[in-house]
Amino acid sequence: MSINFEIVALQDTDVARKIASRFKKVLFIQKFNRFADGEVEVVLDDYKRYAGKTVVIVQSTGNPVNEYTLGVAFLAHALKQAGSTRVIAVVPYLGYSRQDKGITPTSSGSVAVIAKLFEQAGIDELITVELHNVDSARYFTIPVMNVSVRDTIAAHIKRQLIKRDRVCLIAPDKGVHDYVKAIAEQLRIGTVMFFKERFSPDQTRITACATECQGTIGIIIDDIVSTGGTAINAARKLLSMGYMKIFGYFVHPVLVSGAFEILQKGGFDFLCVSNTLPLPADVQQHSFVTVLDVSESISSVLQERLMDKS
Ligand code: R5P
Repeated sequence: MSINFEIVALQDTDVARKIASRFKKVLFIQKFNRFADGEVEVVLDDYKRYAGKTVVIVQSTGNPVNEYTLGVAFLAHALKQAGSTRVIAVVPYLGYSRQDKGITPTSSGSVAVIAKLFEQAGIDELITVELHNVDSARYFTIPVMNVSVRDTIAAHIKRQLIKRDRVCLIAPDKGVHDYVKAIAEQLRIGTVMFFKERFSPDQTRITACATECQGTIGIIIDDIVSTGGTAINAARKLLSMGYMKIFGYFVHPVLVSGAFEILQKGGFDFLCVSNTLPLPADVQQHSFVTVLDVSESISSVLQERLMDKS
């Protein structure tokens, strides 16, 4: 059955191109204007193209997060104004997902506000990858599909393992304990669980550690690497515990300026990230880095949504 839909984006990224190519579609990049005062504007390439159709936006809301978050909302709104009947937003990395605590007297509960913004703008369904906290889906009233790459990571680690008795999987903070535990059980290897405290928006320290495994190769797994601080703290701690090699698996390579160099110099021997966010060419091509493609996992969920007319 052929489905009449279009794929659009604000950025020409690897993941958007691969998703479009899996559906044998053209990826239409929309004009994304930035003004001197920081405002952004989305201008559709051809509004008639989208009238009466389902349109799939493929756009992560990574750095600069505020621009891309508003950009996705503005794009959805423009598409609805142009007559699109259904807007599915594929946001492989959802910015603000770490601010998941909900609206309280002292917190803006940012991800809850993003949910409202996206829905009000006209997004009908959201597909994302490895949401920082899966419970954040409750802030949306539209369907939210969280694509997990846990099995892909497990399969990749399995291929890398030579002497599994020397390998431990490392969770650098509590939020990722269950995720790492599930991979460890699948691979039948032990874990080291760290607990961390965030003492400023971008600075953390390890406060405790639960060890069920003593190895020489530590594989740190986390959903996000941003400043690299969490990863480096875990790597340093492991080196002080006698580990000789440190590998890192991070789903979303936010990698703010300088973070990649910090990881390279900080004891990591290998870095595996996904293509949920665009990577600078020098990082992508670096021999130290492997990039996992999430387009297949996203496309199969997207295919199901496209077939589902409910
Ligand atoms: C937070 O809980 C996430 O899972 C990551 O640990 C965190 O976002 C990594 O940030 P950074 O690289 O800045 O330490």
